[in-house]
Amino acid sequence: MFATVRSDHPLTARTASPLDLFQAIQDLKRDLNAIILAHYYQEPDIQDIADYIGDSLGLSRQAAQTQADVIVFAGVHFMAETAKILNPEKLVLLPDLNAGCSLADSCPPQAFAAFKAAHPDHLVVSYINCTAEIKALSDIICTSSNAVDIVRQIPLDQPIIFAPDRNLGRYVMAQTGRDLVLWEGSCMVHETFSEKKLVQLQVNHPSAEIIAHPECEGGVLKHARYIGSTTALLKYCLQSDSSQFIVATEPGIIHQMQKQAPHKTFIPAPPLHSCACNECPHMRLNTLEKLYWAMVHRSPEITLAEETRVAALRPIQRMLEMSR
Ligand code: 13P
Ligand code: SF4
Repeated sequence: MFATVRSDHPLTARTASPLDLFQAIQDLKRDLNAIILAHYYQEPDIQDIADYIGDSLGLSRQAAQTQADVIVFAGVHFMAETAKILNPEKLVLLPDLNAGCSLADSCPPQAFAAFKAAHPDHLVVSYINCTAEIKALSDIICTSSNAVDIVRQIPLDQPIIFAPDRNLGRYVMAQTGRDLVLWEGSCMVHETFSEKKLVQLQVNHPSAEIIAHPECEGGVLKHARYIGSTTALLKYCLQSDSSQFIVATEPGIIHQMQKQAPHKTFIPAPPLHSCACNECPHMRLNTLEKLYWAMVHRSPEITLAEETRVAALRPIQRMLEMSR
């Protein structure tokens, strides 16, 4: 049962300072018995107010075990949808319902169903960055932190479709020596990094270590000293002896890196053009103000057809079991 939220709340997003909003959000959290889960690509203010910040696997685990009545998901749609799949009885809020994902969009369910039908003896391993409909067509879900480990657990004679990210798929192939049938999807943010500019940047910062997310293209990954999920990249920076890093993933993560290692320097890897296109336009649709209003109005809410939810739950549970 929800506690009543005051409809005459003194704040309006237009006049409130971030400090007022922080307090108002804390009050709403208590009133709603809510938890705020945030991805590292969210704006710094959202990261600072979140109860938990993590990569897709960490966020799924938190969503699977929370006792809260309301999950406020500061991330993109497929992440909040995963939380809803795991918690059909809970209210799952996404501050901006338009916060989608180019990678998830690159795999339309109808086309993928036909692709799957053309490979009837294949097991389908899908990256969590996909819609509930694609999850429902999959056997096992994975994230960037467990994809290699999950594929290694599948018998060698079992052919596998890997979807939707071709870059992560190629990385898994290289790590496991397995021949995967890849769906040709990709992330608009991680494909924007320029190998040429990265190499130039390394020349200017010879002691900096290049670290990269496996959603990047092979040309970028081959220069990386370390490749991993956002959480893995953060951990690597903290334990490495180096004091300078060139970070080839969405630069939102640099807020946490800088917070946890203030004495180190983090340089965002450059995009091809002079743009801010290494920032995920979907992730950045969420703002602290929208998060506040979502809690006030208990909307926008994630909803799902029960049949799809049940079918999508099975491969997510399999992932959680396989990555204990
Ligand atoms: P992880 O946080 O799981 O590494 O994923 C990165 C990403 O692209 C999320 O959209
Ligand atoms: Fe999707 Fe790429 Fe944005 Fe992640 S960074 S949410 S994969 S578009």
